[in-house]
Amino acid sequence: MRKAYCLVFTFLCLGSLTAQKFEGLAVRPPMGWNSWNTFGTNISESLIKETADALVASGMRDAGYVYLVLDDGWMSMERDSAGNLVPDPKKFPGGLGAIVEYVHARGLKFGLYNCAGTLTCARYPGTRGYEYQDARNYAAWDIDYLKFDWCNTAGINAREAYTTMSRALRKAGRPMVFSICEWGVNKPWQWAAPVGQLWRTTEDIYQVFDSVHNMGGWNALSVMRIADLNDSLRRYAGPGHWNDPDMLEVGNGMSYVEDRAHFSLWAMMAAPLMAGNDIRKMSGQTRDILTNREVIAVDQDLLGIQGFKYADKDSLQTWFKPLQNGDWAVCFLNRSDRERSVYFDWKKEPVTDALYHYTLDKNSTYRLINLWTGREDGKTSRPFTGVLQPHDVIMLRLKK
Ligand code: GLA
Repeated sequence: MRKAYCLVFTFLCLGSLTAQKFEGLAVRPPMGWNSWNTFGTNISESLIKETADALVASGMRDAGYVYLVLDDGWMSMERDSAGNLVPDPKKFPGGLGAIVEYVHARGLKFGLYNCAGTLTCARYPGTRGYEYQDARNYAAWDIDYLKFDWCNTAGINAREAYTTMSRALRKAGRPMVFSICEWGVNKPWQWAAPVGQLWRTTEDIYQVFDSVHNMGGWNALSVMRIADLNDSLRRYAGPGHWNDPDMLEVGNGMSYVEDRAHFSLWAMMAAPLMAGNDIRKMSGQTRDILTNREVIAVDQDLLGIQGFKYADKDSLQTWFKPLQNGDWAVCFLNRSDRERSVYFDWKKEPVTDALYHYTLDKNSTYRLINLWTGREDGKTSRPFTGVLQPHDVIMLRLKK
């Protein structure tokens, strides 16, 4: 009898230890780099090794970008005779194991991509019907992050498909961040919090500030269009389960001010920060945007609250985000094509986050730290004034 109790006890302990391993995987929005936005399927062993080195040398790893994720195109066109996925031997002649080791040795984590359908979007083998086998292989390869896409899924129920893959990952026993990428089509914000740590809320991003880009059959979205859509979903995000407005386009062709507006907005929205540029060749300006510690701290703040659009007057937007220790972040954004002036009277504006019950304390005086200049820009005892060029932002941290 005693033996039986011991066995049950050991079994329960082991079960809860396994469950614990999967907790806290993304208490803050995940940060890293993904190959897709710049390289598409044109990826290789040398690109990945050089990118890993560049993540370290540029200071990006130390700023928090730890996940290096290979997107579509890393596999051979066919599974092997046992049904296993095979890394493309031309792109990765040394196999995947050596690269994963190389990346891990630099203090980074490694991610892969696949798709819930029969084929990926670029028509490589999808996971449909191979969920448990693929998960076992990812675990055996020491993978830390899986982005799971939604092409070629006709007739499949999204919630079921993503739940199956999530269970397969747990069964495989290695904690992996599970990034749900079904473009918001099946409202994942309503069901995906117990399934994965982040879910895409929109179709793909494109490196334009404010227009829709026709890709022939589907529309890629601008930074501002994505922000419009993602803003309405803030109630669903929080520690461990994030709205994902897609990977960053910083350094991929927009102007400097547009890039920093994009980055500021993603931080205000507590978005996962997955850089999508060529880290090996980025300019100093791009690096400075991506590694701005103060802006990153707003994104990664432990309250985990997705900020909100407080006002939008004639294309001059004001965003707020409550932060730890009574601080707030504010971002003034000029969406228009002409210069605009900003005037904000902290004592008169009723800034309240009704959803999470935070109110800007009118009886306190906060210091205003300008997160893009690093300077102190006065205090909340006086109205704030500033000038904004088209598509630029002023981002401040209000400190008590
Ligand atoms: C979809 C995803 C993108 C990328 C490509 C790869 O479009 O939304 O982020 O992964 O597929 O084919």
